[in-house]
Parts: sequence; structure tokens; C-alpha cells
Amino acid sequence: MTGYAIPIVALDVPTAGDALAIARQLREDCHFFKVGSTLYTAAGPTIVRELREKLQADVFLDLKFHDIPNTVAGAVKSAATLGVRLVTVHASGGRAMLEAAQEASKGRLGVLGVTVLTSHDDASLAASWGRDHVDVEDEVLRLAADAAAAGLHGIVCSGDEAAAVNRVYGDDLALLVPGVRLEGGEANDQRRVVTPHAAQRAGARYVVLGRAVTAAADPKLAFRKVLVDLAADTVDGMPALG
Ligand code: C5P
Repeated sequence: MTGYAIPIVALDVPTAGDALAIARQLREDCHFFKVGSTLYTAAGPTIVRELREKLQADVFLDLKFHDIPNTVAGAVKSAATLGVRLVTVHASGGRAMLEAAQEASKGRLGVLGVTVLTSHDDASLAASWGRDHVDVEDEVLRLAADAAAAGLHGIVCSGDEAAAVNRVYGDDLALLVPGVRLEGGEANDQRRVVTPHAAQRAGARYVVLGRAVTAAADPKLAFRKVLVDLAADTVDGMPALG
């Protein structure tokens, strides 16, 4: 990946009012918002339409679909009708499910395969699968292979594995990296965290900022720090802030 990673702010809040308040506060600088299961379960498709129509923002619908191929295909079609730009499915759902999701997207939105959640490390992943040992990077690469074979737009992985995936797939798989924190920020429940700059260096096309921005004392300032961090690689060093 060359150029800036696109920053996406996760609106993990319980009401449409809270989500719109944050999105309005950031809208001058941020054009892409993530609606995940917390907000979608409370506010449904209406919040997606409001973000698109009232704020002219792009929406990443992160509902991590994992079901039989026909049901996942239906969910992806519904997401396309809503006008979202990106949607997630679990890459562990198998090749048939991934192919059904990709086929249903008809290129109208990007389907991303979630590999290993950033809240896991080797030990917690092994424990959840009842195994003695699991290597997160091996699992991410294995799931990335399925996503690539199914023709998905990309995958979700942590910044720790992004460089390894990027070496194998390059621009063939867009990498979306969550668990992103500003230098010295709280990791919260995430085990594999990186800075925006490190994620971008590792090949991320999209970086997701949640609590690092939304729980900051000044979310607008925190988001601007993200832009500055992403721009730190450039020769002239100045991000577009307005
Ligand atoms: O607040 P924080 O930055 O930890 O939020 C990360 C966001 O990214 C959450 O909405 C979470 O659901 C999502 N996510 C993740 N790890 C994945 C996929 C999505 O943390 N593998």
C-alpha cells in the first residue's frame, strides 16, 4: 500500500443521538464511520441512512456476518441496498460462505473477512479453541488465503500481522486494521494494538479508531493527532486538516 491509510471512526455508542453527536463533531476531518453491533442493534438501518444522507459520510457496517452461505449472501445484499461502502464477514466461515458474500456484493461494496479478533493473543486464542498452542499470525495468513481465493476486497487483521499479509498479497487484499491507539494510549480490552503510523507502514489501507478518539477528552483533537501521525511518513509532513 502506498499513500495514506483511510481513518475510520468506530461509533460504538448505544444510541443514534450519541453517534450523530460524535459524527457531527468530527465531520470536518472524518468522512468514514463504522457502525458495529452495539449501535446497529440499538438504532438499525436508520442510523446508517442518517450518517450517509445528513452527513454525507461513508459507512463501514461491521456486523461480522457468519452463517450459512445463503443467509450471508442475503445480509450482504441488504447492506448493499443500504449504501454502505464496507461490510465484514468472518473469514472462518469457509470458502463457500466467502464466495457467496463476494458474489452478492456485485462489486457495489467491499467485503472484508475478519481473521483473528484483535482482542486475542496466542494464549487466549488457543484457550478459546481448546488447543495447547496457536500462532495468531499463522491463523491470520491461513484465513487471508481463503479470503483472497474467494476474491474478497480485503481482510481485517491487527497491525502485528499486517506486514506479513501485505508481503504475500500486496494490493490484492486491502487490509483494515483496528485496535489502533495513539502513542501511550490505553489498550483497553485489546491485546494487539498499534499506532496509526505503524499500521500504515505495515500496509493498512484502512485504520479503525474507536475509543482512542471517541473516549478522548477532546475527540476532534484526538482525531487530528491521528491525521498528523498518519502524515508523519511524508516528505512535507503536513496532513490535510480541513
Ligand atoms: O475502541 P477500539 O479502538 O478498541 O475499537 C475497535 C473497533 O474495531 C471495535 O468496534 C471492534 O468491534 C472492532 N474490531 C476489532 N477487532 C477486529 C475487528 C473489529 O477490534 N478484528
